[in-house]
Amino acid sequence: MTETDFVPSAYLEEKEAGSTVWKAPSNIALVKYWGKKENQIPANPSVSFTLQASCTETRLEYTKLEKESPDFSFDLLFEGAPKESFKPKISTFLSRVENYLPFLRKYHFTIETSNSFPHSSGIASSASGMAALALCLMDMEKELDPKMEMDFFYRKASFLARLGSGSACRSIKGGIVQWGRHKDIENSSDLYGIPYPYSVHPVFEQYHDTILLVHEGEKQVSSTLGHDLMHNHPFAKQRFEQAGKNLKALQPVFIDGNLVEFISLVESEALSLHAMMMSSMPYFMLMKPNTLEIINKIWEYRNASKTHVCFTLDAGANVHVLYPENEKDQVLQFIKDELVAYCQNGQYICDRIGFGAKKL
Ligand code: DP6
Repeated sequence: MTETDFVPSAYLEEKEAGSTVWKAPSNIALVKYWGKKENQIPANPSVSFTLQASCTETRLEYTKLEKESPDFSFDLLFEGAPKESFKPKISTFLSRVENYLPFLRKYHFTIETSNSFPHSSGIASSASGMAALALCLMDMEKELDPKMEMDFFYRKASFLARLGSGSACRSIKGGIVQWGRHKDIENSSDLYGIPYPYSVHPVFEQYHDTILLVHEGEKQVSSTLGHDLMHNHPFAKQRFEQAGKNLKALQPVFIDGNLVEFISLVESEALSLHAMMMSSMPYFMLMKPNTLEIINKIWEYRNASKTHVCFTLDAGANVHVLYPENEKDQVLQFIKDELVAYCQNGQYICDRIGFGAKKL
């Protein structure tokens, strides 16, 4: 499919007003997206686990305006209160998707949104937030075009979410989601995420992700800026190739459940992502001393216990601790005994692989 496949022809229905509510999860990348081209096209393919507990709930209310508005007309409420500071990001999103949702200036919107995790936790809400909003807008479009197939609905939701935030396109469907064209992955696309199309060992159906909140507050460098620094990065070419190779190497791992191989690919990806940040110009570092303490503790414990616990990182100091269902009691005890001490105010979130976004 190409971009033009997402431009609708004239709608058959009219709608004066309506509302819809969607809940979309966050996701954690195993192969990382870091670096993009124009129009939110990823520089390399990525793959992620969809999460369950960390999510955004968004309610969209719409009323037809008497005449088309020159600007987008919307109010934004975050956790029940108006939030002016979020509006520019939403305006940018609406202008990026306008071509694909030509009704946007004909309505006034009230967008009410809230996260299951504290805003200050350092967990990026852009993936779940943009996914939830994209799904609400698709729901509205489906009212105008009731014959729309659900496959197309979800694909276009992922396509729109990507235009809000790249990783958001992996927050629509559950399980393992792949985004970005890869010659060995059938139907993969730079434009939207797809449910991982090959067989997946049952061990990956019930994976745990305990998110250790190491550092609260604003990140030193936004991911948008971080992506930008991959232009002219001395190792960009090698990094993009590495991501493609790691994605391919994960294929047999997903099939046969080889956790030893899974661990080395996933941890290498996390450290490569941070290595890119440390070697860009200007350089920066998002890990904190406690991030490293936790990583070292995980390595020590894994050696001693012969379990399959491992870590991954997003663009921040928090650590995602990944482990299979059959080791959950043992590993969770280890986390409580040894790792929680490194979390800010002892905060952590017990998450796990989930089933994707839901209409409420
Ligand atoms: C490190 O999706 O937040 O989490 O497209 O600029 O919104 P934008 O970036 P974003 O980048 C996520 C980067 C990452 C890796 C990943 O999720 O693949």
